Amino acid sequence: MIKGVILAGGRGTRLWPVTKVVGKHFLPVGDKTIIHYPILTLKKAGIKDILIVCGQEHTDQYVKLLGSGAELGVNLYYTIQVDPLGIAHGLGLARSFAEGHPVALILGDNIFGDDLSGAVKKFSKKEKGSMVILKQVPDPKRFGVASFRKDGTIKNVVEKPQKPATNWAVTGFYLYDNRVFDIIKNLKPSARGEYEITDVNNWYINEGTMDHFKAKKFWVDAGTFDSLHLANILIRKQI
Ligand code: G1P
Repeated sequence: MIKGVILAGGRGTRLWPVTKVVGKHFLPVGDKTIIHYPILTLKKAGIKDILIVCGQEHTDQYVKLLGSGAELGVNLYYTIQVDPLGIAHGLGLARSFAEGHPVALILGDNIFGDDLSGAVKKFSKKEKGSMVILKQVPDPKRFGVASFRKDGTIKNVVEKPQKPATNWAVTGFYLYDNRVFDIIKNLKPSARGEYEITDVNNWYINEGTMDHFKAKKFWVDAGTFDSLHLANILIRKQI
């Protein structure tokens, strides 16, 4: 069984002043809020036990909006990331929730047009390792960027490179075996003071146990005004 983890902390500073009063994840996309999309992405992939890692200011609003998850057909649990110390740090808070199982991590503002159940099924057949979802983007400098070996496997991932080697971004959906929690424990913070998920991904790449899936439809991280607008256009088209 794979356990789901959604990271929904962070201050949403790129959406100020709106996010001074409304948490980013409660902003509307289509006929839902942003946070509904990662929940439904996990559900579609058969992952129903989901921990939402929230920032302290908005915990009550998550519970009010989503409750136990019963309305959406999932089981929701909540925990608090007091300090926004990065994605890997947020995932580290899910250790006891994971109970030794593998985990699917999704960033709370990531909206996927693809059904990721095929990728999850492929991952669940692996004995150990990790899988990332990649997507070609016009602005790779904003993301973790993958480069490839001749055989098509990932050679490495560089976080927000000045000179991106490719335009393949590592999206905010990741699958890890349970060793990820020990890997996170040994991480050092990066220059921007965060525990980087890219360092975790490079650990698996170096071990030779990293797989990837290339998304074919759209992928948006709805954390800026432009991408939020784009997410609304794409979802409206789908509706
Ligand atoms: C984070 C990750 C980056 C990834 C991106 C996907 O970036 O560090 O590797 O490509 O999410 O949304 P951040 O949100 O910290 O800018």
